[in-house]
Amino acid sequence: MGATTDTCGGIADTGGGIVDLAAMGAEFARDPYSVYARLREQGPVHRVRMPEGAMCWLVVGYDEVRATFNDPRLSKDWERASDDLGLPRIASGPHMLIVDPPHHGRLRKLVASQFTARRVEALAPRVQELTDGLLDAMLAAPDRRADLVDALAFPLPISVICELLGVPDLDRQSFRQWSNTAIGSAPSPVKAQAAAHIAAYLAELVAAKRERPGEDLLSALIRTTDDDGDRLSPEELLGMAWVLLVAGHETTVNLISNGVLALLRHPGQLADLRADFGLLDNAVEEMLRYDGPVETATYRFTTEPVEIGGTVVPGGGELVLPVIADADHDPARFPDPGRFDIHRDARGHVAFGHGIHYCVGAPLARLEAKIVIRSLLERCPDLALDAHPAALTWREGLLMRGPHRLPVRF
Ligand code: HEM
Repeated sequence: MGATTDTCGGIADTGGGIVDLAAMGAEFARDPYSVYARLREQGPVHRVRMPEGAMCWLVVGYDEVRATFNDPRLSKDWERASDDLGLPRIASGPHMLIVDPPHHGRLRKLVASQFTARRVEALAPRVQELTDGLLDAMLAAPDRRADLVDALAFPLPISVICELLGVPDLDRQSFRQWSNTAIGSAPSPVKAQAAAHIAAYLAELVAAKRERPGEDLLSALIRTTDDDGDRLSPEELLGMAWVLLVAGHETTVNLISNGVLALLRHPGQLADLRADFGLLDNAVEEMLRYDGPVETATYRFTTEPVEIGGTVVPGGGELVLPVIADADHDPARFPDPGRFDIHRDARGHVAFGHGIHYCVGAPLARLEAKIVIRSLLERCPDLALDAHPAALTWREGLLMRGPHRLPVRF
């Protein structure tokens, strides 16, 4: 063990069949797809050292990933995690992504109605207004250049989710930094500290909201009593604010950045979209499939031995990670998966997950992406990448996929 050998189809194997993703560094962050594809050719389940340092069982391949999402023997509850994993406890309060049924269903029911396609559609004029304001500011740059992440992809989703929740005063730059750290690949104590900052900050926001309630979602949740007369506990309220704010902006940022990047790297597809915005719905689905914002799902832990594609993952709280990025690049499901094609039928992708934890914010994310991308293209007829694609640096860690910066000129 220890010495890096090359016994795994060109992928660093530290011995004992353990694939060391940590050792692959920036190259893996730039193109994880080819690494996952080589693993898939060898089988659906792999013992892996994550860039974060912890050991996990990685699941690749479309069918196996979907089955893993649906397996009730895999728990989302961190109390089920083996102590040997050395994972940091994230201070967030119980929320949808870290609880199992029946607790999960109870929490989800409290917000699901807020995110139906119809409710979300009603937000379109405000999303358009926010987008127009951000584009006005971006286009005023005298050198006709911008970092699209800073100018548009980050501020739009965070503004929308803040307005929805009713926290307009959120200190967005601090929040962005803490949130990026808490879900990135920093050492465990650093992640835990960032999470604690968010928790303390949200506790203050919730306390202020209790004093001055409004017509927003957070006030509604504070007031809420569901059909069973079941109120959110203070910890659950914090967890809800946490998951909506973090999941509501970290992901959509990357849908906008990765989606625009894909268009700029494929001028023929970009021209097709400019010529017919009727293709926009389909184009956004292809962006989600081709280079989606979430690379691997959130953590799941074995509650008993679980057989996946012929490999038995032991019980006792082993960490299992379904690789969304690979499922959506499995040629058995999506022919020629490395080709970005806004005309293809990309439905069935798992960019929003699958099963009971399927993304509650999917309609909102789609709406934002469509408005932003259309407005950007309409107002910037000469939009172009202002960096060599190989020079872009990518977010570390297995959870999120997106560039740190996306320099463009217009
Ligand atoms: C393009 C943008 C987005 C992507 C790709 C995305 C992706 C995902 C995925 C893959 C999951 C399931 C994770 C798992 O099972 O391990 C999920 C769950 C979730 N997402 Fe999203 N998401 C996006 C936007 C949003 C937005 C805008 C919100 C909030 C407004 C949101 C809130 C949530 C919540 C609360 C869950 C947990 C649902 C549950 O456990 O029942 N997401 N998302």
